[in-house]
Formats: sequence, structure tokens, C-alpha cells
Amino acid sequence: MRALAVFASGQGTNFEALVASSRRGELGGRVVALVSDRPDAPALARARRLGIEALPLDAGRRWRTRIEDEGAWVEALRQRGAEFVLLAGFMRRLHVTFLSAFPDRILNIHPSLLPAFPGIDAIRQAWAHGARVTGCTVHLVDESLDAGPIIAQSAVEVRDEDTLESLEARIHDAEHRLYPWAVRRVLSEPWRREGRRLSFEPAPLGRSA
Ligand code: GAR
Repeated sequence: MRALAVFASGQGTNFEALVASSRRGELGGRVVALVSDRPDAPALARARRLGIEALPLDAGRRWRTRIEDEGAWVEALRQRGAEFVLLAGFMRRLHVTFLSAFPDRILNIHPSLLPAFPGIDAIRQAWAHGARVTGCTVHLVDESLDAGPIIAQSAVEVRDEDTLESLEARIHDAEHRLYPWAVRRVLSEPWRREGRRLSFEPAPLGRSA
């Protein structure tokens, strides 16, 4: 079973959805660690409660939005045998040392229908813009900001009676369903990339008796 590391800076509700899916045998992989750049992240306490290794790692003081010594982070993941990295509310951008250690093996979830509303506060951005449909996106991570090849998306309608909070709640529900489903596809179905386009191969035909 594929070993997965989840990175989170905040609450970790997507991390918990991934763990739950894995424990139901639906993910096609096993979450071996929850890594955070913030020693006070609630996601770390959630990991301890779930019996998953909680691993705060030092991102350094030099930058606010990137990791100073990515090599140390890569080494920590190698020690744990992690093959894929799942970003789930991780608020730092990854750069060449980290990206080249896990080529096409880093996924992210973003709370909008990309390429609309990249960056921070995406749900609020869509709300303030007056979008009638928004949602969430799972994509491969590359050096761009929220613009790697798209794996899966789920649309969420903005209702007239919505508040920002009710919209956020429905997008989070959609994320908790979409992310495990997308991870399972990536781990268990053959896929290929042509430029930005990512496509899954048709399931192989079963052998006749
Ligand atoms: C999620 O909504 C995720 O899409 C978002 O942070 C939230 C984390 O929630 N990520 C981004 O905005 C990344 N650009 P969680 O910690 O409860 O999973």
C-alpha cells in the first residue's frame, strides 16, 4: 500500500477525511504522517488523536511563504517511506528541491474552481465576486501558484440565501468527498499527462475465463 504524507497548516479537516477514507480501505494508500510548518496547528493535535504521527517541521525564519531548507523536509519524508505528498490547507509554496524529489507526486486541494480565485481566501474571493457557481479543485503541484494540472473538480452552487459561512460549509463538505476520491484515482488508475491535460486511461478489460 502506498505511503502518503499529508501537509497541513491549519485545522486538518481534509487530512481527517483522507485518514477516514484510508481506514475504510477506499484510498488505495496509507497516511503515515501529518506534517505541519506550524507547531501550534490544530491539525497536529488531530493527528495525535487519530493515532497518526504528528510531525512539526521547521520552515525557517527567512521567508513567510516558503521553506528555508527543503532538503531537510525531503529527508524526513524519505525516512518515513512517503511516496506521495498531499497538501491539505498547507500555506507555503514548494520550490525546486522539494518538487524534484516527488515529481508528479504532490497533490493539492484548493477551495475554488481553478483557474478562478487562486491564492488565499478563495471562498471569500468567489463570494465577494458574486460568483453563482464555485467549488473545489484537486490538482498536481508544480512551481506555479494553484495552477498545476487539474485532476478533479466539484461544483458548488451559490444560493441566494447563502451566507459566507454556509457557503464555506458546503465547499468543505465537497472537499471532504472530492479529495479522497481524486487520490484514489491517482493511486489506482493509470493516467497520463499531455501538457496541462491529465487523463485517466480506460479500465483494462477483464480477462475472459
Ligand atoms: C481547505 O479549504 C483547503 O482547500 C484550503 O485550506 C482549507 C484547509 O482546511 N487550502 C487553500 O486555500 C490552499 N490554497 P482544513 O485544514 O480543515 O483541511
